[in-house]
Amino acid sequence: MDAIEMLKTRRAVRAYTGEPVPKKIIEDIVDCGRLAATAINIQPWEFVVVIDPALRRRLAETTDHGKFIADAPVCVVVLCQDTKYYLEDGSAATENILLAARAHGLGACWVAGDKKPFASEICRLVGAPQNFKLVSLIPIGYPAESPEKTKRPLSAVLHWEKY
Ligand SMILES: Cc1cc2nc3c(=O)[nH]c(=O)nc-3n(C[C@H](O)[C@H](O)[C@H](O)COP(=O)(O)O)c2cc1C
Repeated sequence: MDAIEMLKTRRAVRAYTGEPVPKKIIEDIVDCGRLAATAINIQPWEFVVVIDPALRRRLAETTDHGKFIADAPVCVVVLCQDTKYYLEDGSAATENILLAARAHGLGACWVAGDKKPFASEICRLVGAPQNFKLVSLIPIGYPAESPEKTKRPLSAVLHWEKY
């Protein structure tokens, strides 16, 4: 699959087979997060990889719309130091991780963290230092579904020169 096809066919995957994800692949996916664009190259991120089923269940229960975290073999928790552009930086890293997972034939889903009332509890569960923000949780696994999503057409969103 070439890069453009990979980008265009990525979808949020919330159902996974039980197959474990090899450590080397997890490291490569997180490495892609590490290399994301970041304002003034601050790189405020830290990535906590949660494999332990008990901790994943705790994370899943703590979220409002991320119960399927319990079913994924891996969950990457994206944390950022509380810097001016932490949300943009952490979001860029999150998207890179979603795409890297897709490139490795895995399914993943962005589960919201920032601004959620449970953010501080997730930070506590993964042992984040005080000045860190939760940006996202990303369950990853071999896909057990191929979701389709209706998208707004290019002609509705692309404007040349002016809106
Ligand atoms: C900032 C953000 C927060 C999201 N939070 C959740 C979430 O908490 N739970 C969930 O199931 N999906 C979540 N999603 C995934 C979206 O629901 C999904 O990307 C959207 O429906 C479009 O579908 P697609 O990713 O398959 O194109 C989130 C996506 C973004 C960008």
